[in-house]
Amino acid sequence: MMVTWFDVGPEGLVAEGEVVPVSAGGKPIALFLHEGAHYAVYDLCTHGEAQLSDGWVEDGCIECPLHQGKFCIKTGEALTTPVTEPVATFETRVSDGRIEVAIATAE
Ligand code: FES
Repeated sequence: MMVTWFDVGPEGLVAEGEVVPVSAGGKPIALFLHEGAHYAVYDLCTHGEAQLSDGWVEDGCIECPLHQGKFCIKTGEALTTPVTEPVATFETRVSDGRIEVAIATAE
């Protein structure tokens, strides 16, 4: 297993406290800017067929648009019912003004 950094867009793509849907290595990713740092989570709720990037960001949490389950955008932890399974998170970095997301890829 190795990690590949995927370019998902220019710095400034996502505003503070907002979320945008991007794609990295074929995976749907919800990208956040929270307190000056980017966070990336898998853009599918662990409870049902809902894109978290269609939800609402509040205090470092993303609220699912379908049944209002909340996840921590830093850790992916499931915080409120009905969600119980954490959502996958991905490392991010900014390189030469571009936002990059790390995805584990098979060798
Ligand atoms: S689909 Fe997200 S809380 Fe139900």
